[in-house]
Amino acid sequence: MLSEKIQAALNEQINAELWSAYLYLSMSAHFAADGKPGFANWMNVQFKEEQDHAMKIFNFIISRGGQVTLKPIAEVKTSWASPLDAFEDTLQHEQVVTGMINDLYALAAAEKDYATQSMLSWFVDEQVEEEETAQGIIDALKMIKDNGFGIYTLDKELGARVYTPIAAE
Ligand code: FEO
Repeated sequence: MLSEKIQAALNEQINAELWSAYLYLSMSAHFAADGKPGFANWMNVQFKEEQDHAMKIFNFIISRGGQVTLKPIAEVKTSWASPLDAFEDTLQHEQVVTGMINDLYALAAAEKDYATQSMLSWFVDEQVEEEETAQGIIDALKMIKDNGFGIYTLDKELGARVYTPIAAE
């Protein structure tokens, strides 16, 4: 059985994951309109992964006999000055999410809720990967600056990203 406090915090995290999905879908739309189909693809995969993150917590609440409460998803930005600007926003957002996951883990530990800690440990590892990936693309974009061929090549590389549902990982 979930405590009221943990259930409320998990529901907040579902909202944050869905907001993340919304943010990356908006970035995908922005890149598609900007003639960068590879960047758009990468963000579209990110969008789907964030929905999986939300559903992982959703399903966990149900499994523990809790109540999922869906709240409104706040508005997101619709345009970015450059690919670097978008990926800097991505990294900054992922750092905020990492903080939220850490706070949730600390709450579960304080309440001796071992099942919630076990579920959250997947997210702890995932956030390391999320931040590392965003930082890697930022580093590449800083090297490329506004070199057209560099952007073209990175667009091709990001276009190769394929969505894999987390349950199948
Ligand atoms: Fe669900 Fe990108 O963290």
